[in-house]
Amino acid sequence: MMVSVLADRVKNLGGENAFLVAAEARKLTDAGRIVYPFHLGDFGCSEPENIQNACDLAHKEGKTGYCNKSGIEPLKEAVAEYSGKRRNLTITPDMVSITAGGKPVIAFTLLALMNPGDRVCYPNPGYPIYESWINYLGGVPVPYSYKETSDGFKIDLEQLVDSIDREKPKVVVINNYQNPTASVLSPEEMQAIADICIMNNAFVLSDEAYEEIRYDNTPFRSIASLPGMQERTMILFSFSKTWAMTGERVGAGIGPKPEGPQSVIGHLNELNVNVYSCVNQSAQWAALEAITGNQDGARNILARLKASRDATYGALSNLRDVGVVVHLPPSTFYQWADVTEPMRRMGIADYDAFWKKVLSDTGVAFCPRSHFGKPLPGEERKYARFSFSGITPEDSVKGIEKLGEYLRRF
Ligand SMILES: Cc1ncc(COP(=O)(O)O)c(C=O)c1O
Repeated sequence: MMVSVLADRVKNLGGENAFLVAAEARKLTDAGRIVYPFHLGDFGCSEPENIQNACDLAHKEGKTGYCNKSGIEPLKEAVAEYSGKRRNLTITPDMVSITAGGKPVIAFTLLALMNPGDRVCYPNPGYPIYESWINYLGGVPVPYSYKETSDGFKIDLEQLVDSIDREKPKVVVINNYQNPTASVLSPEEMQAIADICIMNNAFVLSDEAYEEIRYDNTPFRSIASLPGMQERTMILFSFSKTWAMTGERVGAGIGPKPEGPQSVIGHLNELNVNVYSCVNQSAQWAALEAITGNQDGARNILARLKASRDATYGALSNLRDVGVVVHLPPSTFYQWADVTEPMRRMGIADYDAFWKKVLSDTGVAFCPRSHFGKPLPGEERKYARFSFSGITPEDSVKGIEKLGEYLRRF
């Protein structure tokens, strides 16, 4: 007899389906097939050499033991200084909690703030982990969306402002430089979101993982910089993207100044100690080099990403005859492509059937819209995300040309 041992909440936890695509892609490569990897938001290169050396040195110097639950002091100081300067804010080390990548900042902030039944606004399509944790913690997910314009994707500001006004969420998740649409907030949109959050006393979780992955000359902007926002915002800071350190697992929560024994940042530190004691110490020394050392590596990473972006956008633009529609992504390393017409030509309505058939027939691996939150009622257009961080410009063009030849057969 099967005994059910799992807690009720288990069924509510989501996941990251890009890893599902990766597993299928791996089966093809194991069978000797060529795969064009547009699915994972990871890099085809390792972290810069100076960062590797700092990690090696930390090991050699025996910096391998437990350390402070909130992170090593020099790293907290460096994150505070770097982030404060870029946001024109005073940030002190006690406002920083070093976490195992940026991802725990999502879970830990929601754990610190949410009671069951609390509403949380979050982007959908968006990074799937927000929706996963909101559901897992018994909250009420209140999604907001993005609109396709001739100029790329814009936040549905009206919908977001209306939802905040009507639903009175405890937390609003903002992801400027957005995964998967690459959408960037204008200063006016950012101000409107700040105003409505202040008016409704909502706390903001600002996911700024892609703060450095910008391809145009618009300055970096954080909602925390706006008047009245720092005291109600937790910034998700990540080393993963800027310095290609995805597997090192170092990030940080940067929160309001702690006042008294109870604070959001203090709770992040407590969760650090309850879950993993402290972040891998040698990786923290590597992160210190990343943020304070020579920045040639970060510049090279951005240049490589830009070349892949241009190639991917250019190649997908050539598939207009089969109905693929794309806009040049101004940030992140994702191309959000309208694939309504290709899916119609193939006679496929289901997202899972679509990515699986294309992958198995062509070797082109990508993530469909359904991997970025539950599709919303009334959505008419179909989308897919092509990540260009882990593929060379040449392979990107080859893969997309192959996809084009395939789609033309239908
Ligand atoms: C929007 C967004 N936030 C956060 C993360 C988490 O990154 P990490 O945990 O590697 O810092 C990712 C990773 O892909 C992301 O796309």
